[in-house]
Amino acid sequence: MSPLRIAVTGAAGQIGYSLLFRLASGGLGDRPVELRLLEVPSTLPKAEGVAMELLDSAFPLLSGIEIADDPRRAFDGADLALLVGARPRTADMNRGDLLSANGAIFTEQGRALNEAAGADIRVLVTGNPANTNALVARVNAPDIPAERFSALTRLDHNRALAQLALKTGAPVTEIDRLTVWGNHSATQYADLTHARVRGQDALDLVDRAWVVDDFLPTVAHRGTAVIQARGASSAASAASATVDAARDWLGGTPAGDWTSMAVVSDGSYGVAEGLVSSFPVTTSNGRWRIVEGLDIDPFSRERIDASVAELAVERDAVRQLGLIPS
Ligand code: NAI
Repeated sequence: MSPLRIAVTGAAGQIGYSLLFRLASGGLGDRPVELRLLEVPSTLPKAEGVAMELLDSAFPLLSGIEIADDPRRAFDGADLALLVGARPRTADMNRGDLLSANGAIFTEQGRALNEAAGADIRVLVTGNPANTNALVARVNAPDIPAERFSALTRLDHNRALAQLALKTGAPVTEIDRLTVWGNHSATQYADLTHARVRGQDALDLVDRAWVVDDFLPTVAHRGTAVIQARGASSAASAASATVDAARDWLGGTPAGDWTSMAVVSDGSYGVAEGLVSSFPVTTSNGRWRIVEGLDIDPFSRERIDASVAELAVERDAVRQLGLIPS
């Protein structure tokens, strides 16, 4: 079996340190993997150290490791690009500065993917602001079909699953049809309207006050809570969610269930075409499909619209910066 060529950007960062070991130890299945570690030049020595540890783990499925600071080299012939590296917000940066710094990174990486990636490439963006970074990369890779780009909302989905499991006492494996809509930000909406616990409607098992006052804010602000508790941002769970999302995209969602994935909108559910927004999706053999025809109640409508409005503001900001055409 030929190895799956996986490029990981931000390879020497916190998420990378967890993600690479999950990929090498069979997180995506039993196909051998070849890892391409992309870092900025100043962090290459750290990436070398991570590569040494990967080697020292003697993973049976790891067929090669390469380190690069040139995205064209890292993406050359790649089947999967996990875009984790991004510029974090520092105290002296406003929102425009953050979008601009990341826009530059994802413009360059979009172009490099367009030039160098393999024909089967799938691009999953974890680095924040993930949805808009995915939009910028996609626009800068015009030869790659738009459906090959997605942004990670699987961590939000997993957090929602875990909270519902805790509340109902059911294992996460007994919960299905949960959806996270919109942006990977505090405006995201974790929708339980269609969710089932052991086949029963979730909303018959929990009261509305818990959903509104406890569940939704807990899921939306979980990242901040982890930073407060750990003194560092959620890295292992973000890496785990990245593995889950990639595995389901390349493989498939279980029959009767779906997952949450931020993908390029085709206008479904009133989400403006072209925005990279989280939807309920089923996947099979490297393709995703938005689950159509779900009823959206007025509360959900309001929450979805608010998150999508934020995505439109981010899109307009990167347009104004000249990072995507008008
Ligand atoms: P980190 O700061 O520990 O690591 C980021 C790494 O990216 C650094 O090693 C840096 O040198 C590298 N990098 C920066 N620019 C790069 C470029 N142009 N090319 C290659 N590498 C580059 O950050 P951490 O904790 O690993 O998080 C990474 C990103 O993931 C952040 O933007 C964070 O906000 C985001 N994140 C997203 C989540 C999601 O659910 N979508 C959840 C948690 C974090």
